[in-house]
Amino acid sequence: MKKLLVTGASGFLGWNICHLAKEEWEVYGTYLSNIPAIPDVALLKSNLRDFEELKLIFDNINPAAVIHTAAQSSPNFCQNYPNESYPINVTASWNIAGLCADYSIPCAFTSTDLVFNGLNAPYLETDPVCPINIYGEQKVMAEEGILQRYPMTAVCRMPLMFGIAPPPATSFMQPFIQNLREGKELSLFIDEFRTPASGTTAAKGLLLALEKVNGLIHLGGKERVSRYDFGKLLVEVLELPEAGLKSCRQQDVKMAAPRSPDVSLDSSQAFSLGYAPLSLREELEALRGKL
Ligand SMILES: NC(=O)c1ccc[n+]([C@@H]2O[C@H](COP(=O)([O-])OP(=O)(O)OC[C@H]3O[C@@H](n4cnc5c(N)ncnc54)[C@H](OP(=O)(O)O)[C@@H]3O)[C@@H](O)[C@H]2O)c1
Repeated sequence: MKKLLVTGASGFLGWNICHLAKEEWEVYGTYLSNIPAIPDVALLKSNLRDFEELKLIFDNINPAAVIHTAAQSSPNFCQNYPNESYPINVTASWNIAGLCADYSIPCAFTSTDLVFNGLNAPYLETDPVCPINIYGEQKVMAEEGILQRYPMTAVCRMPLMFGIAPPPATSFMQPFIQNLREGKELSLFIDEFRTPASGTTAAKGLLLALEKVNGLIHLGGKERVSRYDFGKLLVEVLELPEAGLKSCRQQDVKMAAPRSPDVSLDSSQAFSLGYAPLSLREELEALRGKL
């Protein structure tokens, strides 16, 4: 089997990719502070901000392809500590693309729907970027530098993702579920829209993009939904206590990073290549009993 290097294997998405990819690849996953449990995947501790360490990984493994998911993925953290997030979100991403160019191997990078301001959804790959927070700005810098260094890279704009995660990593749905199960109040935005996809679907999309895409691609889910409506569906499908579920608006909650109202992605280009997310209901039904 060919060797696939997945950065961020201890994170939500990297972990999902490793589980899926090991059927067809010899998978090497990196982590920084949390050792993930993934049978049949070789795990390497690595600080990707250190170029020498990164180069050594490439030299030792000699991968046939790379999926780069490692990042500081919290917009609020990036807003508060931009100098801490820049080296992993931007510099390391450029370096990984540069090494993939040196090795002439396929590379997929995980960007975000938050490269857009949310005022003109749904967004196509051809729409101009216009981030409104530092996380989005850093992802734009990463995208541009990656495509300069290695235009063959699949720069995948990921949607909001949900599903099974290796503790302590989590997707946005785990805290929702915990709050409701504990009888606590859960207020969700009625005025913030996304096109969510499960981690499994997103992982399938990335493996497809690795094979078929050079340049930008949107890997959003099938449906545009508000956070609140997603919560209602979650309650129904997972049979959660609904008493705590309340609606609110973005303006009701103060956060460090400004929030986009609607960064729904138009992913028809990926759909035409064979990316096939299920409906949200089907995605959630597949997770029943596993969360
Ligand atoms: N989750 C979403 O809904 C979403 C939406 C759009 C885009 N994305 C993008 O998709 C990618 C994956 O997101 P995610 O939710 O899976 O992220 P995550 O759960 O926060 O995981 C981040 C991963 O990056 C690793 N990491 C952080 N700093 C590192 C460093 N300096 N050196 C090496 N590894 C480092 C972490 O390792 P340790 O845990 O071991 O420290 C972890 O494995 C990210 O690029 C994110 O920006 C995510």
